[in-house]
Amino acid sequence: MSRKALGVLVSGSGSNLQALIDACSVADFPARISVVVSNVPTAFALERARRAGIASEVLEHKKFGSRTEYDEALVGVLRSHGVTRVCLAGFMRLLGPGFLRAFPEGVMNVHPALLPAFPGVHGAKQALDYGAKVAGCTVHFVDEGTDTGPVIAQACVPVLPDDTEATLQARIQQEEHRLYPEAVRLWCEDRLVVQGRRVRTK
Ligand code: GRF
Repeated sequence: MSRKALGVLVSGSGSNLQALIDACSVADFPARISVVVSNVPTAFALERARRAGIASEVLEHKKFGSRTEYDEALVGVLRSHGVTRVCLAGFMRLLGPGFLRAFPEGVMNVHPALLPAFPGVHGAKQALDYGAKVAGCTVHFVDEGTDTGPVIAQACVPVLPDDTEATLQARIQQEEHRLYPEAVRLWCEDRLVVQGRRVRTK
């Protein structure tokens, strides 16, 4: 089977990128990472790409006049690397409709909360502040909203009495690192079927 060409968009530490890099190193994994693109030049994720011998590019949103211009440039970079599917891995920018249309095979994201609870930034902190007893992560397809696309997979973790944002975030991230590659595997084996809001596995 030919491996799907992924583009991974990052802004920060890139621990989810690392989980995808590790998954792609397994012989039967149905995807490879063609390029990593960061909007933040100092993101540690870029170093992870470099160590893995993966092409990387920095595209700073601040250098563009509008969101549309930025999205167009991003599409150009991803296409120049042959990318057909996009994974967001801590990419702290919203993507517009033009970007999403450019990748009809889809864009996937991992979010540190059990959507539809706690969308947006600081999912773990929101769960903690709310007093939730269970937290977790969600892998979903990206649509034009903030963390509103169809849910592919979720995993739960307990919120413990002594948790801080950091300890809860770490417990959630352990699950992200397991769940995101699993979802990408199903996607790239063309085993995900989207029917309206519902995603089933075939
Ligand atoms: C993750 O918690 C992910 O859910 C969210 O951003 C964070 C990125 O972390 N979208 P990392 O850069 O992958 O370590």
